Amino acid sequence: MLRATAEAGINIALIKYWGKRDDELNLPAVGSISLTLCELGSRSTVHFDPALSADSFVLDTVERTDPRVFGTLDAVRQIAGLSTKARVESFNTVPTASGLASSASGAAALATAAWHAAGLPPGLDPRLADITRINSGSGPRSLLGGLVELDRESGQPVQLLPAADWDLAMVVAVLGRGPKAVSSRVGMARSRKSSPYFAQWVASHPADLQAARAAIMHRDLEQLGVLMEHSTQKMHACMLASKPALMYWRPATIAALEAIHALRTKGVGVWSTMDAGPHVKALCQRGDAAQVHRALLATDGVDEVLVTTPGPGTRLL
Ligand code: DP6
Repeated sequence: MLRATAEAGINIALIKYWGKRDDELNLPAVGSISLTLCELGSRSTVHFDPALSADSFVLDTVERTDPRVFGTLDAVRQIAGLSTKARVESFNTVPTASGLASSASGAAALATAAWHAAGLPPGLDPRLADITRINSGSGPRSLLGGLVELDRESGQPVQLLPAADWDLAMVVAVLGRGPKAVSSRVGMARSRKSSPYFAQWVASHPADLQAARAAIMHRDLEQLGVLMEHSTQKMHACMLASKPALMYWRPATIAALEAIHALRTKGVGVWSTMDAGPHVKALCQRGDAAQVHRALLATDGVDEVLVTTPGPGTRLL
């Protein structure tokens, strides 16, 4: 088979990844724990075609030149002993104008499709996670479903809990559109180099991971939610203390965080997280998602609110 299509869900980190310990292999400075989502993601088709003289890449019907995509193809070709060029066609099911990151699901779908199109053996081979990481350090987490930990040492993903085992929802408030001001890759390098909090961020991380693993094992949403908010705020403190500052927040970000806090004071079990952008994501029980959706939609500056649920890992179509 020289052609394959794979689909992957985006993932949202609960215990965040920020910073690298090896730029070349894109290995993280910290482990992380995430939730893979069902409703938002990417689909990628890779066709190794002997008639082609060069690799090509089309994303959402627009032809692009992306060295990371071509690097992914080279890595797969090297393992498979292939020299054939490929055509890659990818789509994001994340609303395209939303500015929500789809790099992790895109990386997982691309690497999986290329791996199978090249005839490499099925199953979660550690080299597939390594190849996924070329494109996105958080990408290997999307290879697996549900709650997933990315191990700092190996850079490999491990499933902590399948999607069906906990009735969670992630309600995503989209604030503002367009690409982020500073990419994660550039921002992480800047934080490592210049943020006086970077060392503390890394040193305080293992305790968060350990506590989050225990919270997940006991399905303790309150404990997990508190840890998630703390990890998020530590990451943003580290970003803000970088030189120049990495400020991803907008006024509506604060309003959305306050809306989540207000719901909690009313007794709703909901906690917030953010990534390298202004959007706010709220973790709650699925039964509370409609209420959280309403509150975020009524918040000034929130453009759109999406209710998402845990999803499976990357699959071949
Ligand atoms: C802020 O995978 O986008 O979303 O490894 O440089 O490709 P690179 O970055 P990326 O990391 C995003 C990190 C984050 C937090 C997280 O998802 O853990």
